[in-house]
Amino acid sequence: MSEPRGMDAPAYWGAKAAEYDDFIRRVVPRYDEMIDRLLDTLPAAPQRILELGCGTGNVSLRLQHAAPAATLTLVDAAPEMLALTRARLAADDAAAAARARFLEARFEALPAEPAAYDAVVACISLHHVSDPAPVYHALRACLRPTGALCLADGYATANPALHAHHLARWHAFWRQPGNLSEEEVESVRTHVEQHDHYFDLETQFAMLHAAGFDAPDCVWRDGLFAVVTAQGSSARERRVDGGNGSTAG
Ligand SMILES: C[S@@+](CC[C@H](N)C(=O)[O-])C[C@H]1O[C@@H](n2cnc3c(N)ncnc32)[C@H](O)[C@@H]1O
Repeated sequence: MSEPRGMDAPAYWGAKAAEYDDFIRRVVPRYDEMIDRLLDTLPAAPQRILELGCGTGNVSLRLQHAAPAATLTLVDAAPEMLALTRARLAADDAAAAARARFLEARFEALPAEPAAYDAVVACISLHHVSDPAPVYHALRACLRPTGALCLADGYATANPALHAHHLARWHAFWRQPGNLSEEEVESVRTHVEQHDHYFDLETQFAMLHAAGFDAPDCVWRDGLFAVVTAQGSSARERRVDGGNGSTAG
């Protein structure tokens, strides 16, 4: 089950779509708790939400429940994943799902939609981007100034010894009873080496500031995995904007 050479991250995950929901909980420790904390970072009453890397819709479904009046835009480069998310959302709430948009696109080539969203959400997806800085610029441009960027992902630690410890703990989790077989460990390890890019939080925050975000923060962390949020503009600008998007820039 080793990864075929040349298979990119969406192809890897798309091929795992049918088994994903069980698999991901054996790969990522405290996956559901991390999503709970990610949802805490949503702004109040979002009307339009962009989710990057919807996968099978685990977060999308939670967004549909958390903001039933919102319009969701779900992006993934794997068509198998988009199809699963579409079916799950429709089975859960046909009216909300009918409003949703499903975009088969890469994070690195998102359509320009200036100041269109109240929240941009990504869960264990953006670490597949080798150079996140231009993506952050594009995300800032599509966010209203009152909006928030809400990320859950793997992040390095600036202290190399501590980062190595976090990775060792993660690998030990894979080998806990009931988690991954040796064949699966090999598959995930190869995927991580080829496609995952973990930046430390100081670097993340610098990239977010450079893209125009304000108040980047880490609100939850366990080893490699963390929930990071940033605001579309400063608290003062958000007060001036009063929620009507007029200071978008
Ligand atoms: C590990 S899954 C995460 C799915 C879901 N967000 C979750 O929390 O379970 C990553 C998803 O991002 C998608 N993906 C990875 N790299 C991508 C890229 N560069 N552009 C678009 N989608 C990408 C994959 O197809 C996959 O569905």
